Amino acid sequence: MKRVLSGIQPSGQLTIGNYIGALSKFVKLQHDNRCFFMIVDLHAITQPQEPEALREQSESVSALYLAAGIDPSKASIFLQSHIPAHAELGWLLTTLTYMGELERMTQFKDKSSGKESIGVGLFTYPSLMAADILLYQADLIPVGDDQKQHIELTRDLAHRFNSRFGEFFTMPELYMDELGGRVMSLDDASKKMSKSNPNPASFIAMLDEPDVIRKKLSRAVTDSGREVKYDPQNKPEIANLMGIYSHFAEMSIAEIEARYEGQGYGPFKKDLAEQLVAVLEPIQQRYREIRKSGEVAGVLKKGAEEAAVIANETVLEAKKRMGFLIN
Ligand code: AMP
Ligand code: TRP
Repeated sequence: MKRVLSGIQPSGQLTIGNYIGALSKFVKLQHDNRCFFMIVDLHAITQPQEPEALREQSESVSALYLAAGIDPSKASIFLQSHIPAHAELGWLLTTLTYMGELERMTQFKDKSSGKESIGVGLFTYPSLMAADILLYQADLIPVGDDQKQHIELTRDLAHRFNSRFGEFFTMPELYMDELGGRVMSLDDASKKMSKSNPNPASFIAMLDEPDVIRKKLSRAVTDSGREVKYDPQNKPEIANLMGIYSHFAEMSIAEIEARYEGQGYGPFKKDLAEQLVAVLEPIQQRYREIRKSGEVAGVLKKGAEEAAVIANETVLEAKKRMGFLIN
């Protein structure tokens, strides 16, 4: 069985970008692989978080994992901060990372641009992400396109460690499909849809009420044409909506083009809203039940116990190889 690992930051409401790029893949992969799905709270604090909001979001994202269909008897679901080995291996790998490598990270450049003071954690964040992955000797990492560069760095660090201290870490691979890698904003198709965008009309949150979803989609920016045709170069807004449609309706782009031939954008956007509601409404219903039941704490405890066994073993072996005295 392959080992699959991924994580989402509890730093805001999850969007359909997170669902398409990450969460829905987690659900699919859990059946045939040994899966580790984290809520990466240590990553979230690389940007300021109110303590109460961090607590609420950590619980909310955990509940959404369950509501979306991750089964805790198949996959380990846990909080990154519950396993100290993440911070520990994170530090060890930070010492193997070059400044120049981190300076090249586009996510760092985006998140730090225009800021007067930039936290060091935001800079060293990719070394911690590498630790998350290497701790579990993971083979496959389901993430969106924006994480590609971080996975590359993880591979470089694994290689660097292995050549200095002997073959040890598994080389992880990116798991992504073409359409799901990058869902764009509804108000600007040149920007990634993001939960941290201050304009809520730019994204659809997984917990948006059906009427909010309908409204946001009806107002989503499109070009002034009327042909539902997949042309990312010239019609990026419609291409983005078609990608979302394709994912939620499980239809190919060609099938969507055929269905809306000669119909204009109106009916297409209306149906897209209904496709989203059909998938998200049952998830929202389960989410509310899970929050009420209080079952999240037990799931996280069990997940951390399972994951810690592997994580502790890995960090101990890494330390031995690096020359730390072990009692
Ligand atoms: P984050 O919200 O940064 O914690 O991202 C969690 C996961 O969702 C990562 O695998 C991201 O690559 C993925 N993701 C976030 N936004 C998008 C998007 N707009 N399109 C596709 N994947 C996304
Ligand atoms: N950096 C990822 C993001 O912002 C989250 C993340 C942290 C992650 N550690 C990970 C993803 C390990 C995959 C594997 O989306």
